[in-house]
Amino acid sequence: MVKVMFEDDFKEIARICEPADTYAIGLVLYSLVKLIKAETTLEIGLGDGYVSFLLSHASQKHYAIERRLDRCEKFRKLLKDREIENTTIVNGLSQNINWDTEVDLIFQDSAHRLPILGLEIDKFSPL
Ligand SMILES: C[S@@+](CC[C@H](N)C(=O)[O-])C[C@H]1O[C@@H](n2cnc3c(N)ncnc32)[C@H](O)[C@@H]1O
Repeated sequence: MVKVMFEDDFKEIARICEPADTYAIGLVLYSLVKLIKAETTLEIGLGDGYVSFLLSHASQKHYAIERRLDRCEKFRKLLKDREIENTTIVNGLSQNINWDTEVDLIFQDSAHRLPILGLEIDKFSPL
């Protein structure tokens, strides 16, 4: 079993971000990244930042894409307050972003509908 090493901070983040339905998914993804030794991760659809916060702890380099600037700024502050420096936030629509970075694991949690889902798979899947 993979142990979550930052329990107090994690509880606070869950309180701040109030994940509606990704509470368990976040923990599963955190464990998965550790188990498969993924070094780079990407979340498409940052939302309030809960899953990205976990992935930024689990991987060496994390990317988060979000169309809403307010959500990007909220998460940027969260990272700054905790001196987390391995995460890049990209503000924009996934379908409009130019992407040439290879990542080991992607969590697709943006539009949840075609054709965007398909476009994202084509664009962001491991090269
Ligand atoms: C379900 S929420 C994400 C929840 C978050 N992953 C979590 O676990 O807490 C979906 C987010 O995706 C963003 N979004 C939707 N379509 C998008 C797109 N095409 N490109 C970028 N962000 C998008 C929305 O603004 C919203 O913040």
